[in-house]
Amino acid sequence: MSVTRRNFLMQLAATSGYTAAAAAMTTLGLGAPTIAAAAGAAPALSLAPGSGKGIKVLVLGAGIAGLVSAYELRKAGYQVQLIEARDRVGGRNWTIRNGTRIELNDGTTQVADFEPGHYFNAGPARLPSHHQTILGYCREFGVELEAEVNTSRSAYFLPDAAKGTKPIQLRRAINDARGHVSELLAKATNKGALDQELSADDRAKLVDFLKVYGDLTPQAEFKGSERSGYKVYPGSAEQVGERNEPLPLEALLDPDLWTALIFDELLIFQPTMLQPVGGMDRIPYAFYQRLKEVARLNTEVKSIRNKEQGVDVVVRDRSSGKQQTLSADYAIVTFPLPVLAQVETNFAPDVKEAINNIHYDTASKIAWNARRFWETDYQIYGGISVVKADTALIWYPSGGFHKKTGVVVGCYNIGQAARDFTAQPLSAQFAYSRNVIDRVHPGHGAELQKPVSVTWHKVPYSLGSWVHWATPAEKEYTRLNQHEGRVHFAGEYLSQIGAWQEGAALSGHHAVAAIARRVAEAVPKRAAA
Ligand code: ALA
Repeated sequence: MSVTRRNFLMQLAATSGYTAAAAAMTTLGLGAPTIAAAAGAAPALSLAPGSGKGIKVLVLGAGIAGLVSAYELRKAGYQVQLIEARDRVGGRNWTIRNGTRIELNDGTTQVADFEPGHYFNAGPARLPSHHQTILGYCREFGVELEAEVNTSRSAYFLPDAAKGTKPIQLRRAINDARGHVSELLAKATNKGALDQELSADDRAKLVDFLKVYGDLTPQAEFKGSERSGYKVYPGSAEQVGERNEPLPLEALLDPDLWTALIFDELLIFQPTMLQPVGGMDRIPYAFYQRLKEVARLNTEVKSIRNKEQGVDVVVRDRSSGKQQTLSADYAIVTFPLPVLAQVETNFAPDVKEAINNIHYDTASKIAWNARRFWETDYQIYGGISVVKADTALIWYPSGGFHKKTGVVVGCYNIGQAARDFTAQPLSAQFAYSRNVIDRVHPGHGAELQKPVSVTWHKVPYSLGSWVHWATPAEKEYTRLNQHEGRVHFAGEYLSQIGAWQEGAALSGHHAVAAIARRVAEAVPKRAAA
């Protein structure tokens, strides 16, 4: 697959939802991504209350997988301790607000200087409506949700600067592309190109369908469409609307544009998408409310050692430096693999190899505080402008419409592009992002203020964003989905919904269910002993 055809959005889709992306990519002739199928479909987690009585479990890491695991185990009566190295829960679910310190392991420190009430979801920032496990927790805990406006027809596609073309509004690109293609297909049908494939009756129906689908004239020609918007909007009295001219087909034959045309058809990006009101971290904090008494923040894990009948974990209090050995019957380790690779263990060689060999991807975002010029001057309310530039997109806020200012995301790149981009000093990254936004919204670059950047491979205790599993990695995926002695692994990277909180939650369920099975199997043995 060529890099040009498989652009940022498709890469993101492929990374972040194998099953979802596979269908779309295959349809587009891009080749489906592959991954080892999990053994059987996961049944909903349901542990009998009290079934975990007397069993100790250490849950290492308070990201979504760890929080879900700890919560479910406690509900079933297990004795749980939740260990987290940071001074907050959530892991990659990190909402940045005024005053948040961003200390990256390249030695840089930034302090967010947003206006009160504003926030920036540096990690997950949207929830598909079919992700019912994580949404189920929002329902259970009363986490208030609102629509996350993931696409807006008023947003833009910015072609490569080398092509010298101006931004194209998505409303026009999408509808004009459909109109042109519909006209061509109608022409081909009428000229007999489909006579072998379709009956005369169905050919007539197809042309009638294309007139509706592409907004064609009664003669099946595309002469532009009201769907593509107006130069002058219709108004009162004599103000007649003046439609945009249709864009020429050649302008739409830019491969960089095509994914933007179908972005919200990919299942994981289909409306309605959701977000918690006030920031994504409302989800981890709702868990934390229910886990506070068993959670230890600021506590690093130094070593994990399986024993015959349990597991010992050496932890270090980051404030006092004091080390302590915690013992339990089982552990669930939810660290991203680059973090786990730094922990001393007595795992078997194949497990160590899996942990060390998996390449973690990265992602990087920049957020700006600005006057909401995208609303006042461009009628953009949420959604994304896709840019053929190193920063990949401009993501407008879905909440706080018509407030004076808001937080706009001026970069979200992934993979090698993100590594290269973030190898530059922050000032250069910000200057680049400002310049790209100014190309889409001329004159407004100057209105962007107080930027912050989060680069996930530089965030301590994350050291990456997600795994892009490929065929050679399947062995490790399968291995880490099995337990190693008394240690079970969980995290979005061990699900078929990588890079999504849904995957993290389901992977937590998978680990909890596996422990519950072992406990249930051990009961007769314990009774007999
Ligand atoms: N889940 C990630 C996103 O929404 C990949 O961008």
